[in-house]
Amino acid sequence: MINYQIFFEQAIDKVKQEGRYRLFTDLTRYAGNFPLAKNHHNGCDVVLWCINDYLCMGQHPKIIKAAIETTKEMGVGAGGTRNIGGTNHPLTLLEKELATLHEKESAIVFTSGYIANDATITALGNIIPELIIFSDEKNHASIIEGIRHANCKKYIFKHNNISDLRQLLQSVPINQAKLIIFESVYSMEGDIAPIVEICALAKEFKALTYIDEVHSVGLYGKSGAGIAQKLGCMDKIDIIQGTLAKAYGVIGGYIAADHLIVDAVRSYASGFIFTTALPPAIAAAALASVQHLKHSSTERLEHFEVVDKLKQELTKAHIQYLSNESHIISVMICDQYLAKEASRILLEKYHIYVQHINYPTVPKGLERLRITPTPRHNNEMIEHFVMALKAVLVELKIIESVIF
Ligand SMILES: Cc1ncc(COP(=O)(O)O)c(C=O)c1O
Repeated sequence: MINYQIFFEQAIDKVKQEGRYRLFTDLTRYAGNFPLAKNHHNGCDVVLWCINDYLCMGQHPKIIKAAIETTKEMGVGAGGTRNIGGTNHPLTLLEKELATLHEKESAIVFTSGYIANDATITALGNIIPELIIFSDEKNHASIIEGIRHANCKKYIFKHNNISDLRQLLQSVPINQAKLIIFESVYSMEGDIAPIVEICALAKEFKALTYIDEVHSVGLYGKSGAGIAQKLGCMDKIDIIQGTLAKAYGVIGGYIAADHLIVDAVRSYASGFIFTTALPPAIAAAALASVQHLKHSSTERLEHFEVVDKLKQELTKAHIQYLSNESHIISVMICDQYLAKEASRILLEKYHIYVQHINYPTVPKGLERLRITPTPRHNNEMIEHFVMALKAVLVELKIIESVIF
């Protein structure tokens, strides 16, 4: 008799021993009262400081209205895969809007940003014979998984390192098919890729380019199309991937590219073909969000004011964070147990929710608190947060003394 239970027990024991057993916090957010939420573990309100709904669009009245009205009109579910259930009309409109946003011929929506990466990269491996993939070493798990499934030769280049990428490209025959995959804003470090330089290399070595703009769409560029728009180089990138779940505050992922590329991915990507489409209300909500942020920069400007303010206050309090040009603020703890403990104390003692980031999301030894300010974090919240964080870092002996 095989004892199956023991496999599961051993698997759980292993993650517990390694200090990476995850506990989820049971929260209810209050629409209209961002960034507050109720912590169901003790009934207290907490201030959220690590949510990727960067611009609070998930609670925007226009987005809520679009979701409610579309649900009333069209019901809840999508009713099946696109092939069998058809495409619900809001999804057609959303794809048109995303193509326009990125100045591409076409776009295709997946059920998440993760699936967009995994399914597209896997499909590219099937579509392009003898493709070689060049991938930044800090690329997201969904890209890594896509490359694994693409089952083609790969080279991993040093993070944001143009000369390493050049050397690797040089090592491959010029007429061999190549794909360079990178992110614009890296989710954990918050640093920004040298997009223009990567595109120049791609041109020189006849490679296709694939950028993950998950942490920048909605936030950067004059209409929120991301860093490539901000730098004026969207046309140099062959495939732009994004999410509707972070700055756009809803859910879903997508790619935007030439019609032919999108058509081929649509026809080969298993993660697109064999799953139920996003429901109409979600597509309508995402569409409302993309359209709103295309015309309004208010949220982006307010967001950056809060990001700058928090960075200044952390600096004044002698709390170090990774230096970058983006909205992601990482305070390094570099110990899995201390990172977890810092989160626990912040939550229980100060009613601040900032989830620690441990392995495998970041390498062992680079554990951190990843802080994501939003336009709704006011000065009082910032002051309270910095005071609490300082006190916790001192209590845990991560920094030495309290100097205000
Ligand atoms: C860089 C990057 N790409 C893709 C994803 C997946 O996006 P989604 O949350 O929409 O599945 C994430 C998620 O955090 C990410 O950080």
